[in-house]
Amino acid sequence: MRQPLIAGNWKMNLGLKEAVSLISELKKVKPNKAEMLICPPFVDLPAASEMVQGTHIQLGAQNMYPEEKGAFTGEISPAMLKELHCRYVICGHSERRHIMGESDEFIHRKVVSALVHGLTPILCTGETAEQRNEGRTEEIIREELETALFNLPSEQAETIVIAYEPIWAIGTGAAATAVDAQAVAHFIRGELTRLYGETTAEKIRILYGGSVKAANIEDFMAQKDIDGGLIGGASLKAAEFKEIYEKV
Ligand code: 13P
Repeated sequence: MRQPLIAGNWKMNLGLKEAVSLISELKKVKPNKAEMLICPPFVDLPAASEMVQGTHIQLGAQNMYPEEKGAFTGEISPAMLKELHCRYVICGHSERRHIMGESDEFIHRKVVSALVHGLTPILCTGETAEQRNEGRTEEIIREELETALFNLPSEQAETIVIAYEPIWAIGTGAAATAVDAQAVAHFIRGELTRLYGETTAEKIRILYGGSVKAANIEDFMAQKDIDGGLIGGASLKAAEFKEIYEKV
């Protein structure tokens, strides 16, 4: 049985004061069977870490550099995230792939490094509108998965989280239909089965992301291969994120 995961990716939003205020609200939410995760900007993490200690809220980072320490100006290491009790780290978000130019190989290094340091990677995959129109969705996702997970043993693979985030659905208000999202989530589970066998593939959580809100989360959660949501805009508002979490 896979535990549902409701993850908020705050992206480059909410400075320290706003972060503290949102977390105070989320702490009031009654825990249920789903896991609640927030991924604030790096500068909010120390305060967030103190605030969520001993609560139902898990902490994650939006990114990391895949080295232990050293001359990497402006970067944050997995060890630093561990020190702040982060449990998760988002790897390969489409905004990092497309705006910062991260390659599949670089994302692979992050996934491996995260696991070495005891962090759970949330590996993001997803196609552009153009790729979808060309019928290349599965090809793109297969490539992203194969490269990012290259040589990963199944004991490690079974702990990771995969997010399917079609790029055309991110921040547009035009979410994928639950049926389309399920079709891709099913394809992802099939690829994981091919790579690791059914037992491992059945343990891996797959999230949908892209314009998830309280009004559509139930449709996604009703799908067999979708185990939660990776939520951007709607995770910035306490009432909306609470409603999403409570509907799961
Ligand atoms: P939105 O929920 O704002 O569409 O963002 C989705 C996303 O990119 C989460 O990582």
